[in-house]
Amino acid sequence: DWRKLLPGVWFHDPGLATTSGAESAITELDGENGILRYRGYPIEQLAEKSTFLEVSYLLLNGELPNQQQSDGWVNEITHHTYLHEKFRRKMYDSFHYDAHPMGLLCSNVAGLSTFYPDSKEIDDPANRMQQAVRLIAKMPTLATSAYRHSVGQPFVFPDNTLDYASNFLRMMFELGNPYEVDPAFQRAMEVLLILHADHEQNCSTTTARVVGSSHTDPYTAMSAACGALYGPRHGGANEAVLNMLDGIGSYENVEPFIEGVKAGNERLMGFGHRVYKNYDPRARIIKEAAHDVFAVTGTNPLLDIALKLEEAALSDEYFISRKLYPNVDFYSGLIYESMGFPRNMFTVLFAIGRMPGWLAHWDEMLDQDSRIARPRQLYTGEAERDYIAMSDR
Ligand code: SDX
Repeated sequence: DWRKLLPGVWFHDPGLATTSGAESAITELDGENGILRYRGYPIEQLAEKSTFLEVSYLLLNGELPNQQQSDGWVNEITHHTYLHEKFRRKMYDSFHYDAHPMGLLCSNVAGLSTFYPDSKEIDDPANRMQQAVRLIAKMPTLATSAYRHSVGQPFVFPDNTLDYASNFLRMMFELGNPYEVDPAFQRAMEVLLILHADHEQNCSTTTARVVGSSHTDPYTAMSAACGALYGPRHGGANEAVLNMLDGIGSYENVEPFIEGVKAGNERLMGFGHRVYKNYDPRARIIKEAAHDVFAVTGTNPLLDIALKLEEAALSDEYFISRKLYPNVDFYSGLIYESMGFPRNMFTVLFAIGRMPGWLAHWDEMLDQDSRIARPRQLYTGEAERDYIAMSDR
């Protein structure tokens, strides 16, 4: 233990770029080679062959479920999708109609802690898993309720005969007539949720572990993670990418925009990553999944600008020298928008996907009996000085 070898020595590392704050067996990233594995399974194979609920089970339990375990898990999630009616009616009505859905989500995830006081028993692994089931199951209901509130439409209650992704799409879009889930949309939703399910010690997962280390309840810890995800440097980037593409507006404006980025006047949203110094493997998979959705919806008119932007950036020394490549957020919003999601729901979609990852890290941290997160600082303020009376100021 270096703390015994070097007593009183601290490492100053703003942004924690070169600091490991946790031991984890959940997800492995190899940023130089663009590799991502959940519990050892390559993301490419899980995106092609698995489902979001199966990946959620894998992240939380460490192994793929057998048929009996899978059936039990899906049954558990399917039968915990409802919100307490008092919660549903009162929590949403207290927000303004145009409240950003992420603002509602952060608040409502925290609010759930008041309906499940037993969730404070964080030392009981079975209790932790019960709360994890509730949170994974209720995220689509919370998300679609926020959306329906923002557009003045009645809530759609969960349909327990549908799979997770289909149920989510139906609660989002059913209005007046029975909603027919397009298989291409169902599969695209599964893939997008799988790709967002975990990503080791990213900002929001680190937040979940830090807040969870105080031994607060999981709803409060997950609400904090939602807050971290909301920022445009993190999960808010997918919404920012579409707004950026809108701002560029046409092919001709791509080069001038790139020059603006190189001059430091703009940020190329959806590009760059703290760990990936190569193409984000998720961006590659999303780009492929987009074609299946566009085959149904027609191509998103902003796709051509995005492709031109990527081509220009990947051949420009500024981006090459800084190893800036498209990340998970560069193409995801184009699919979401083509599927009919409004831009202010994009980060909410990210949160639905990331919930099992946050929960798996929270559970692992408690299993490890980690110490409370409490870093030190480099003090740069005033030296000791005496109080000054008001008359002397
Ligand atoms: C996610 O951590 C995760 O795993 C996150 C995530 C997950 O699954 O949880 O992968 C999801 O959050 C993806 C990232 C989404 N965010 C964006 O797309 C926003 C745009 N990207 C940047 O803000 C930035 O790249 C970050 C925040 C993603 C990473 O920031 P870093 O690691 O602190 O890098 P940096 O800001 O120190 O940049 C290093 C250099 C700088 O140039 P110099 O000062 O050396 O001249 O690269 C430049 C930066 O100016 N740079 C960019 C840039 N990103 C970095 N320049 C233009 N456009 C960009 N997008």
